[in-house]
Formats: sequence, C-alpha cells, structure tokens
Amino acid sequence: MPEITKNDILNTLKKAKDSNFNKEFLILNSIKNYNYAENELKFEISLQLNNKSGADELKEKFIELIQCDFPFLKKIEIMIDVKSATMQEKQESGILTGIKNTIAIASGKGGVGKSTVAVNLAVSLAQDGATVGLIDADIYGPSVPMMLGLKEKPRVFQNQQSMKIIPLTNYGIKVISIGLLVDDNSPVIWRGPMASGAIKQFITDVDWGELDYLIFDMPPGTGDIQLTLVQTIPLAGAIIVTTPQEVSLIDARKALKMFTRVNVPILGVIENMSYFIAPDTGKKYDIFGTGGGSKIATELEVPYLGGIPIQQQIRMGGDNGVPIHFDSPGSEQAKIFTEISRKLAEQISIKNKNSNSIPKMEIDLGGD
Ligand SMILES: Nc1ncnc2c1ncn2[C@@H]1O[C@H](COP(=O)(O)OP(=O)(O)OP(=O)(O)O)[C@@H](O)[C@H]1O
Ligand SMILES: [Mg+2]
Repeated sequence: MPEITKNDILNTLKKAKDSNFNKEFLILNSIKNYNYAENELKFEISLQLNNKSGADELKEKFIELIQCDFPFLKKIEIMIDVKSATMQEKQESGILTGIKNTIAIASGKGGVGKSTVAVNLAVSLAQDGATVGLIDADIYGPSVPMMLGLKEKPRVFQNQQSMKIIPLTNYGIKVISIGLLVDDNSPVIWRGPMASGAIKQFITDVDWGELDYLIFDMPPGTGDIQLTLVQTIPLAGAIIVTTPQEVSLIDARKALKMFTRVNVPILGVIENMSYFIAPDTGKKYDIFGTGGGSKIATELEVPYLGGIPIQQQIRMGGDNGVPIHFDSPGSEQAKIFTEISRKLAEQISIKNKNSNSIPKMEIDLGGD
C-alpha cells in the first residue's frame, strides 16, 4: 500500500482553484485527525473561507483532486471546519500555547532601525531573565541572521503526523528567519503570500517551548503584504520605530493606523537615530531634528518608550553580528536598550492587566 502523508495531501489541496479559499492559511497544522489505512483516507481540515456557505463545494473539489492524485483510494472522507481570523480563535485553537506575548516591531519607512531595535530589545529582555523568541518576518531584506551572527539552516523534523522546526539560538534568544526559507531572487509579488504562509508556520511549527515574548521584526511599509502579515500573526501589540524627521513620522502615522485598523494595540513609539554624541568632544548633535518620536506619541496618545542615539558601535554590532550587550556590555547604549526594554515590559503588563479578553481582529483589506 503506497504511503500518503499529511504533507502529500496538503500539496494536493493547494492545487484547488477557488476564490473563496485563502490558501495562505493552509498549513500542515490545518489538517487534524488524519487517518489513512487500507486505502481509506479520513481527516478534518480547518480553513479560512471568505464565504462559509461555499464549504461543501470546496469539499467536492478537494475530493476530486485527491482522487486524481491518489486513484487507488477507495474512500475519502473530509470534514471542513470553517475558521475566521480572530485572535481569540487562534488563542483558543492552541496556536499560541506557551507563548505569553507577541510583539511586532514595525515602521512605515524602511531603514529606520527596526531590525536593530528588534535584535537589541530581544537581547535586553533575555538579559533581564525573560525567555525570548525572535521571528524575522522581513521578506524584503531579512537581516536578523546577520545581526545575530547566524548562518546555519534550522533543523526540521517531519513525520506523518507533524512537523517541528528547531529555532536557532544565539545570545540567549531563539531565532527563526524568513531569509532561511525564501529564495532571495524571487520577486516580492510572489514572496508576499509565501511569506505570510511561512510566518504562520513559524508560529505553529517552530519548537519555541515556553516564551515570555515572541518578537516579530516586520518588513517596512504599510501595503497589502504588511497588512496580510499583521492579520496572520496573532499580535498582542506593536511597537513603532521612527527617526525624528518628518518623512519618517508621516510613515509612522500610517503604520500606527494600520495596526489600530486591525485592533492591535500600540505598546509604544521608539525614536531611533535620535541624536549623535561626538566621541571626541561629547557634544550632542540632533542630526535628524529632535523630539519627533515623543511628539507623535503624544499626538496619537500612545506611550513613548525612549530614544536611541546614532552610534557607530550600534551599526558595527549589526554588521558584525554582535548585539550591543555583548559587544559593549555596561555601555551607555546597552543601558538605553535595557531601559527601553523595561518600559516595554511595563507597558505589556499594564495592557495585560487591563484587558480581560483578547481583541478581535476585523479583516478589512480595503485601502485608506
Ligand atoms: N542607532 C543606530 N546607530 C547607528 N546605526 C544604526 C542605528 N540604528 C540602525 N542603524 C544602522 O542603520 C541601518 C538600517 O538599520 P536596520 O536594518 O535596523 O533598519 P530597518 O528599519 O530594519 O531596515 P529595513 O526597513 O530595510 O528592514 C543598519 O546598517 C544599521 O546598522
Ligand atoms: Mg529590517
């Protein structure tokens, strides 16, 4: 009797052509109670459908496709469980079991220092004794592996029933990057849908164990790809990184709006490249202006978590794969990251205390 794995079935189901059906959410963990014996196949599948009433039609298509790929099957039984993308349901379905807080580090504008902030905050939280995971969700330019000095591919264990990806570990944090899965040469238009599928898999299939914080380094921008990602990830909150100049602040406002549209609370604004202290004279220069981050936080009534100076060591730490706590322990910059990470932890505990229930995500893919 030829073997048919869950993965084989997943690949067959992905061939279904049906506008009602969001293939991005079709992952190995969508298939439950999988049973294949004596040429009879039976399983349940959780799906996100745009229109729930089309489930039966889709089931027929699935059965046809499976029959076509595995003609020796005598009986195929499929139960479809239609899901919508609410955080509540994701939490209830156990996707986030063991992960206490999920935080996105985002910005509207590119190159403002999201990845630098994500890496150094993750390390700061870990240095304070928290267990921390970091997901590099940047499909445009995954930079976390380089910033943490990681090169190897994560190990993947797969059997008929399940799949487990072992995260890489360095500087006390667990890490997974989209850069390890997506071909650098494929155009972003194709990488978008792949990325949200892969990131969903990062949450469900990576062996995170218990985590106090799971941090997502987001791609820049507020377009469809980012919105899909924000809806795919069950987020407890987001941090907006901006530089002080107006061009960055305009985009930071857009990013804030994107998160509030899908009911993800803003945990705070961080101003990066806030100022420069000349190492020889100790004189402070406001290269990109000053106070933009705190101004926008006041304007939009969200917490201001602090400002990070432009500093050659911060840049070099990123390029060399050594976070500031390891490159220059006890330095002024290391202290700044620790302070900001403590303010962040404080905001998260305030938010957790105030919210008895997790907010529902409302999907609205319309433009501004
Ligand atoms: N505070 C800082 N001082 C000095 N250099 C910095 C600082 N923050 C970031 N950089 C440098 O600026 C560059 C861009 O930073 P980073 O990659 O973190 O930005 P990003 O917002 O993640 O970019 P992208 O939008 O491309 O993902 C990097 O070379 C990084 O080392
Ligand atoms: Mg980045």
